[in-house]
Amino acid sequence: MGSPTVLLAGCAALPRGDGDEDVLLAALADLGCTADWVVWGEPRAREADLVILRATWDYDSRRDEFLDWCESVPRLRNDAAVARWNTDKTYLLDMQARGVAIVPTVLAEPGEQVEWPDTEFVIKPTVGAGSRGAQRFPAGTTRHADEHLAALHARGTGALIQPYQSTVDRHGETAVVFIAGELSHTYVKGPLLVPGSWLDSSGLFATETLMPVEASPEVLRFADKALDVAADVLSMDRAEFLYARVDVVRSDAGEPLLLELELTEPSLGFAFGGRQAADRLAKAAREIALS
Ligand SMILES: Nc1ncnc2c1ncn2[C@@H]1O[C@H](COP(=O)(O)OP(=O)(O)OP(=O)(O)O)[C@@H](O)[C@H]1O
Ligand SMILES: [Mg+2]
Repeated sequence: MGSPTVLLAGCAALPRGDGDEDVLLAALADLGCTADWVVWGEPRAREADLVILRATWDYDSRRDEFLDWCESVPRLRNDAAVARWNTDKTYLLDMQARGVAIVPTVLAEPGEQVEWPDTEFVIKPTVGAGSRGAQRFPAGTTRHADEHLAALHARGTGALIQPYQSTVDRHGETAVVFIAGELSHTYVKGPLLVPGSWLDSSGLFATETLMPVEASPEVLRFADKALDVAADVLSMDRAEFLYARVDVVRSDAGEPLLLELELTEPSLGFAFGGRQAADRLAKAAREIALS
């Protein structure tokens, strides 16, 4: 057994992520891997035994370039095909078509206008991360919503329009993290589209309030099914997803709804999964790197 090289991919503004993955680097090193970070786009990623997409959070304005780089890296997790599907939030509609309950979503491609919901609503870019470009509007707003939609369209991105799920203000969203297809840990993310939210100094993500939570069996079952459906869409075995995070909110009636299924570069909340979660991921990564 050699010492495989495993690289975690970050971006120029966060070349070593936001700190949450330090424990993963340590776990990889303890398993005998040569582990380090790489900025996405760097050609040296092609030589690694495995590259793991982690803090690549600036790709939204350069998605084609990002996906080209993903395709150029022979050993990438999750891989380029997964990233291609998952970096465009219209994947939610694929999930819905296969029976997963999603936050009700209407798509407005550039040039398309929509009827604004008669409830409070959210407009967010189809390609986006870190809450950037997501905005919340009161019922009956039209001018500001028109302007925001036009601004997103002017950037060449489509937009999703969703009713604001007010349960998020009270309970946040539950993140269910899977490693190599198996449930690892859960945590809760507080509401982000609230007064007083601010961007991290990198400018790449809204700072988040995270808390531990024991997710209900219903939410765990829901997240588990969502992962199966994603594997089905991509004709993969769910164990081939090195990592996945399913973000679940509740409707007003209490039904679980999919807000996001993050297969590209989700924060995995190692602060909540702890060393055990990092060890699990490191072990799976090492196996892939040595295969
Ligand atoms: N329909 C909604 N109802 C309530 N809150 C919402 C809704 N859509 C988005 N939000 C809030 O905005 C945040 C960002 O939205 P979302 O997670 O869909 O996009 P994102 O930019 O990909 O986020 P990230 O990459 O940080 O997870 C959510 O974490 C949530 O707090
Ligand atoms: Mg999110």
